[in-house]
Formats: sequence, structure tokens, C-alpha cells
Amino acid sequence: MNKPLIIVTGTNGQLGWSLQKLLAAYNQYNFLFVTREQLDLSKPETIAAFIQQHQPKYFINCAAYTAVDKAETEQELALQINATSVGEMAKVCAAIGAFFITISTDYVFDGNGTSPYKTNHPTNPINYYGYSKWLGEKLALENNPETIIIRTSWVYSEHGNNFVKTMLRLMKERTAINVVSDQIGCPTYAPDLAKAIMQIVEQLPDNKHSGIYHFSNTGNISWHTFAATIKEFAEFSCTVNAIPTSAFPTPAKRPVYSVMDTTAIAKDFSITITDWKESLKICIDNLMHV
Ligand SMILES: NC(=O)c1ccc[n+]([C@@H]2O[C@H](COP(=O)([O-])OP(=O)(O)OC[C@H]3O[C@@H](n4cnc5c(N)ncnc54)[C@H](OP(=O)(O)O)[C@@H]3O)[C@@H](O)[C@H]2O)c1
Repeated sequence: MNKPLIIVTGTNGQLGWSLQKLLAAYNQYNFLFVTREQLDLSKPETIAAFIQQHQPKYFINCAAYTAVDKAETEQELALQINATSVGEMAKVCAAIGAFFITISTDYVFDGNGTSPYKTNHPTNPINYYGYSKWLGEKLALENNPETIIIRTSWVYSEHGNNFVKTMLRLMKERTAINVVSDQIGCPTYAPDLAKAIMQIVEQLPDNKHSGIYHFSNTGNISWHTFAATIKEFAEFSCTVNAIPTSAFPTPAKRPVYSVMDTTAIAKDFSITITDWKESLKICIDNLMHV
């Protein structure tokens, strides 16, 4: 019997890369890791033919327009990739009976909360990137109510561009750095999210849960605490100064509070979520010993 096919987009991104690392542990499936060259999500009209040609049983969309500040000016492109194409992938998956999993963001909230956001907390995107992801969620659920949407935050890994790698580089180059201390959230180690996604895939179709979920590591911290812990684990001597957001203006607004409540994904899919410090330690150890 043919093994069921899992298509993964965003192959060269942090999450796509983390899913590739799991390939060997899941040999009951065939995987097709897709690059932008094979399926360009800025061309939604090409999606149907691609999916119909390959007939996946599962489609995991890790690709996205993730340039948060640039999205303020490249609005049309962000919308094509994060909204129109997500709606289209969801629709085609529904038509061929494939499970569709896509990733969204804490930026669908306005960041004014004071306790962890539940999955049904009212959305109010904080910036244009957040709006494009929010519209993607909406179109996906309209076109395919069985869609599983996983909102995540502060993603980092050994691969790609992220806060952890930027901090390590700056801490090596400088004697002091400034990091904002008045934005609270929770980091997500991409390999932990990749594992959670595969745990979900393994439970389909028996597990009937679908809709919106939240996933990050557990805990809540400021970017400054995150940086200070990176410094501690990497054993650098650089001074990490705390600064307010007002001292670090960015084109796109950032949330003051973006901690998400992850109890629904833990409960509905029996997923154990690791503490942020534990996962950060693994990532730093891997990065320091390459
Ligand atoms: N990074 C974060 O902090 C964060 C926070 C919240 C939510 N998320 C969400 O988590 C998911 C995974 O993020 P990530 O950190 O893995 O992102 P990433 O590292 O920026 O990777 C994004 C991937 O999308 C691909 N891509 C971009 N435009 C494309 C297009 N037109 N057609 C096809 N592929 C395209 C990129 O391809 P190339 O390699 O060719 O550029 C890249 O492989 C995304 O949905 C993102 O919105 C991320």
C-alpha cells in the first residue's frame, strides 16, 4: 500500500527546516518538502493544479510572508501569500479530502491583554502582517472548516533568521546591547512546534478536533529577559541593557502583551509543552557547538 503523502511548504524557513529534521522518525509517511520555486504562494492561481497533481493526504503550510515591518508597505504581496493563498490551499485540500494545517500568529491580537489569550479571545490585528494572517485564518476556515490553524509567537531555531541568532551575533561583536523590556510574550522553539504538528498529524483522522489553536513554549518573559538568558546560556560577558519600546521605533507596531494560552492544543491533542528555558538551552547548546 502507498504511504500517505505529506506536503510541507516553507521548506527553507525555520519551521519547514525543523519538520525536515523529523523525517526519519516518521517513515510511515512520504514527505514532499516544497520550496518557493516549486510553489510560489504569490501566485494563488497555481495552487490548485499543484495540489491536485500530488494528491497529498496532509498539507502543512509553513510558508508565509514573514517580513513584519516590510508588510506595512508591501501590503498586496503579504495579502496574496498570507491570505488569498491560504484560503486557496484550504479550499483545494477540502476538495480532495486532504487535511490542511496552517500557521498563524499572536499578531492577530492587539497586544493590550493582561492574561494569556485563549483561542476565542477577540482578534484585532496589531499591524498589517497580523491583518494578512488574520484574513488567511478567516478564508481558510470559510473554505475548509476542518482546517487546523496553529497560532504561534517569537519563533526561533538553529536555522534561519531569528532573535536568538541575532543576539548571539551582537553579543559576540559588542560590549553592550539594548533590548526592549516592556513587551511580554513567549518564545517558540521551532523544533518543538514541528513535533507538535507531527503529533497532530498522527492523530488524524481519528481525532476530530480542528479550528484555531495556540502553541508556544510555556512561560512568559520580556525580550530583555530572553536576551539576558541567551547571554547566560552562551556565557558571554556583553552587558544587556533594558530599554523601553519608545527607544526602538519600528515601522510595524509590536504588542505589549502577547502571551497565548496553550491549554487547548495540550488537551485536545495530548501534547506536552516544554518550558521556554529548557528549549532555549538546547538551541544555544546546538548553536555553540557547531
Ligand atoms: N518567525 C516568527 O517569529 C513567527 C511568529 C509568529 C508566527 N509565525 C508564523 O510561523 C510560520 C513559520 O514561520 P518561520 O519562522 O518558519 O518563517 P520563515 O523562517 O520566515 O520562513 C518562511 C518561509 O516561507 C517561504 N515563502 C515566503 N514567500 C513565499 C512565497 N511567495 N511562496 C512560497 N514560499 C514562500 C520562505 O521561502 P524562502 O526560503 O524562499 O524565502 C520561507 O521558506 C509562518 O506562518 C509565520 O507567519 C512566525
